Amino acid sequence: MRVKIQTKEKMNEEIAQLFIDTVNENPNCVLGLATGSSPLGVYSKLIEAYNDGKVSFKDVRTFNLDEYVGLSEDHEQSYRYFMNHNLFDHIDIAKENTHVPCGNVESEEGLDSYDNLIDEAGGIDLQILGIGSDGHIAFNEPGTSFDSLTHIAELAQSTINDNSRFFESIDQVPTKAVTMGLASIMKAKKIVLIATGESKADAVKGLLMGLITEKVPCSILRKHPDVTIYVDRDAYSKIK
Ligand code: GLP
Repeated sequence: MRVKIQTKEKMNEEIAQLFIDTVNENPNCVLGLATGSSPLGVYSKLIEAYNDGKVSFKDVRTFNLDEYVGLSEDHEQSYRYFMNHNLFDHIDIAKENTHVPCGNVESEEGLDSYDNLIDEAGGIDLQILGIGSDGHIAFNEPGTSFDSLTHIAELAQSTINDNSRFFESIDQVPTKAVTMGLASIMKAKKIVLIATGESKADAVKGLLMGLITEKVPCSILRKHPDVTIYVDRDAYSKIK
């Protein structure tokens, strides 16, 4: 695991360049994408590079990590809406090549078809991740099995609190989500994770130090052969 302590601007540039190089080397590569504020700077740089003619996404396939249960695709806080508005609508990707788990589900039956779809596409070449303040990745909360595939997750109260900033009131935040599992994420060939700000300092400590345990979902990344963690000084502040 590599750790890079950088400014937000520098990490956005470096990660965006990694995405651009991955796509230019293999125009029909498979990208693993995330929502939240962490990847937004990278997505704007990808849009900029597309507008400057430095990259085309026309044959790229993408898979997103997660989606809230119960929000329709056109709900402003759904992750499909987020991806369309913050990336897909501004580049030349074919919408049918973009995948976001369907949040309109009542049971877990058939959710593993999302993992099968990723496998059939050849697996994820490059996965971007953010991190929750409680150490979750995607929506895999503390206690999630390291063997988990795509499933329905109950959101931790701290995650509901964190994400309430995007909703009018806390009771509008969904309490469940469909999420790729930890085993699904670990299959990606290359992973980059962004953590910035003091609110991520405890999660970064759990990620880089201490036990590899299901109590700290992100700690599983230490077992992956190709992960780079991008942190700013504030997120790194609890590492001595
Ligand atoms: C949500 C998402 C995660 C994301 C996390 C952190 O819970 N499911 O994928 O990493 O929020 O979000 P942010 O980047 O806004 O801090």
